[in-house]
Amino acid sequence: MSNNNNLLIVTSALPYANGPLHFGHLLEHIQTDIWVRTNRSLNKECIYLCASDAHGTPIMLKAEEENTTPETLIKKITSEQKQSLVNFNIVHDNYYTTHSEENKYFSELIFNKADTKKLILRKEIEQLFDDEKGLFLADRYVQGICPKCGAKEQYGDNCEVCGATYEATELIEPVSIFTGNAPSVKKSEHLFFDLESCSKSLKDWINKTDLQSAVKNKIKEWFTNGLKPWDISRDKPYFGFMIPGYEDKFFYVWLDAPIGYIASLENYLKRENSSKNSEELWGKESNAEIYHFIGKDIMNFHTLFWPCLLEAGDFKKPNNVFVHGFMSLNGKKMSKSKKNFLLVDDYLKIMKPDLIRYYLASKLSAGVDDLDMDFKDFQKKVNTDLVGKFINIASRSQGFLKKDSNRIGDELDETIINEFVEQKDVIFNLYIDREYSKAIQKIMFLADKANQYIDSHKPWELNKDSSNSLKVKKIASTSINLFRILNLYLEPVIPETSERIKNYLQSDCNLGDLSIHLTNHKLEKFKPLLTRIEDEEINRLIEISQNG
Ligand code: 2FM
Ligand code: ZN
Repeated sequence: MSNNNNLLIVTSALPYANGPLHFGHLLEHIQTDIWVRTNRSLNKECIYLCASDAHGTPIMLKAEEENTTPETLIKKITSEQKQSLVNFNIVHDNYYTTHSEENKYFSELIFNKADTKKLILRKEIEQLFDDEKGLFLADRYVQGICPKCGAKEQYGDNCEVCGATYEATELIEPVSIFTGNAPSVKKSEHLFFDLESCSKSLKDWINKTDLQSAVKNKIKEWFTNGLKPWDISRDKPYFGFMIPGYEDKFFYVWLDAPIGYIASLENYLKRENSSKNSEELWGKESNAEIYHFIGKDIMNFHTLFWPCLLEAGDFKKPNNVFVHGFMSLNGKKMSKSKKNFLLVDDYLKIMKPDLIRYYLASKLSAGVDDLDMDFKDFQKKVNTDLVGKFINIASRSQGFLKKDSNRIGDELDETIINEFVEQKDVIFNLYIDREYSKAIQKIMFLADKANQYIDSHKPWELNKDSSNSLKVKKIASTSINLFRILNLYLEPVIPETSERIKNYLQSDCNLGDLSIHLTNHKLEKFKPLLTRIEDEEINRLIEISQNG
């Protein structure tokens, strides 16, 4: 039995390597990052992994369009994505790529084991082929008339008008979206993963895992409809890993994408010269806990196909898969073509990462509900909460310590400080439960309380009489201590600001130091710690998001 107790392996879904990151990606990475930071502040060891998802037809076509090779394209985009996330203070331990030796190794390993266990089925299927483009047409590359309701211009998998699902070959008068030609029908052998044979282990996993109820319901639906074999092969031309034993067949991108989590871990361990390898940490006997953060659109891949692949490969299944909803922008679906879209790099040209981290945290819950990023609401939330309530505690107290060289005194109001300290478990349990908005509400409730403490003691009145100087000092010193506690509570959400505040407080403390209060302690000279979001900045964001 290996002893990887206290180790969490945490992942965010792997963004496709065919373009820059947008706000949808950011929501998930911020959600994961807050969770990782929370766990770390509670002394859990975390390995936070991600990678670019580098295979598939769209990447092959994008490289063609840019007159480059998929390898060059992936390299460039992976490093850009990595940098964008670093700029938001997302603390991945490894941001790798699925187009790697490690991933090839693990994909083949899992496939071969599945094959040995007779979980790979082979069957000839018919597919649409664009002869001029020389490409098999995935469902989104073919349009035609819905075979059920007759609606025109429907894609190859389902009809947006009547909701029917069908095979692309059933479309009436299909055309390729590349050439407008009628595709031919080609037969070829495909490889399928026999999900049905894994249904028992899948059910066991589902029963013992604390999945969100919406996720459980969805899984029930899949079981009711029957677990059909999953097509894991694609014919050339394709960009991916060749299937062992074949000259012209590749693994479907969704086979090797989640295996990329294991590959990213392996690469990380090698880089760190660790004595462990990923087969050990992700092995069936490992006590390490595995958590995936994903969006609701890829639930089937993570709670159905992925556990089956892990079972086949003799790996451990996730301890949980945390699913979040979609993100809309200013009340409307995010869409580049509809000119309602924001790239993460564009946001950073105008605003600081912590502000959006705070806003998204203030809206995130543990459910799969969708979430709207509304620019005006964002401005209001940051200005009211972070600047108006939280930072205000320090701004309005620090002046009273100036004449004593910014030194906190010996005397504090312990009662209110202890009340704040006592809230630590409640707040951090909410973070751990991914109820970030509730954690933020609790913190802002305390911020209000700190401001009321100052209001009720009226240090500005007392200060008019020099005989009150000790009283004034006690009020200001207490307030700065309250501010310090709230800063530690907000640290997983606004790490950059928290760091700046710690610098001002000259106190590099962490959660474990909450019972130690600052007394007889010199502060840095006060400088504004965070400024309000101005209308002008919001208008620029709106403008950028509407330019598509
Ligand atoms: O949906 C997506 O954007 C995929 N690239 C996510 C892959 S997650 C994992 F399974 F690799
Ligand atoms: Zn229809």
